[in-house]
Amino acid sequence: MIILGLESSCDETACAIVKDGREVLANVVSSQIKIHEKFGGVVPEVAAREHLNSINLVIKEAYSQAQIDPCKIDAFSSTAGPGLVGCLLVGLNAAKTLSLIYDKPYLGVNHLSAHVCANFIESDFEPPFVCLLVSGGHTQVICVKDYENQQIIAQTMDDAVGEVYDKVARLCSIPYPGGVLLDKLAQEGNNKAFNFPKAKVGEDEFSFSGLKTAVLREVKKFDKDNIPKKDIAASFQYVIADTLIEKTKNLARKLSVKKIALAGGVAANSELRKRLNELKNEGYITHYPELKYCTDNAAMVASCAYFNPIKTKDSLLIEVFSRE
Ligand code: KG4
Ligand code: ZN
Repeated sequence: MIILGLESSCDETACAIVKDGREVLANVVSSQIKIHEKFGGVVPEVAAREHLNSINLVIKEAYSQAQIDPCKIDAFSSTAGPGLVGCLLVGLNAAKTLSLIYDKPYLGVNHLSAHVCANFIESDFEPPFVCLLVSGGHTQVICVKDYENQQIIAQTMDDAVGEVYDKVARLCSIPYPGGVLLDKLAQEGNNKAFNFPKAKVGEDEFSFSGLKTAVLREVKKFDKDNIPKKDIAASFQYVIADTLIEKTKNLARKLSVKKIALAGGVAANSELRKRLNELKNEGYITHYPELKYCTDNAAMVASCAYFNPIKTKDSLLIEVFSRE
């Protein structure tokens, strides 16, 4: 089954064509980072207009990459939510229109489940597994019992990890989106230079606001030009990865699940990937998506449309939604 997927929930306009949920025939991503950089974050109205400008171009490019005739596509899919409503509408209406033109089904997809499904792309990884989903808007541990049975078993009480990365980056005058750059700096720093605290919360909860405040307190001790960015980044990143991996491992152990995966934009983080790999020494089978399938993309949307689309009688009636 060949599915075309569209992603437009935030600041990436993307189109992909995927066969049977795993084999990528085309993967096109147009990023708006440069446009939002000067505002220090995503401006929803600007983002929605940019999606409108790019959507036809990414679709055309995907057809050309896959060298496929649109008539050969078996279903058209898009992210329905959660995300920015004006942005989601662009992808959803484009996918529904294509489905009407070619008389093929429209499949709506939940963005978070799509991130989880990124683990199936170009791999033979299968449920059951426990997945740590860390993105700009979410921090969750999900028990993936089966392709269609994904349950949240832990989540953050305050900020999402990606959000904390972006905020700490801003404190250190690192441009938006700070996650990737902070990760690069961390790799050159001393992770013992600062002793940042770990939140004392329940086993099914995360909290990162205390850590954010602790970093702010340290940063304020230095002149703007003398902030020890590398050491702050390394010490901050160490606490984040340690907290996330320990908690996820404990939840997996409690459920007697021996497979653990990462998903979401922050799954691209080098320390998190390293710490997950180390769990192999404790007998766990681990997996994370290729870097390009961690941050927002449409291959994960097409994969999710194959494995776990939103269930409904008439999918053309699916509407966009901002929150879960
Ligand atoms: O999943 P995603 O592309 O968009 C959302 O659905 O939110 O995640 C974006 C987030 C941003 O906060 C970005 O700073 C963060 O992922 N990110 C990273 C890295 N690459 C992206 N955070 C830490 N380390 C990275 N290497
Ligand atoms: Zn995302």
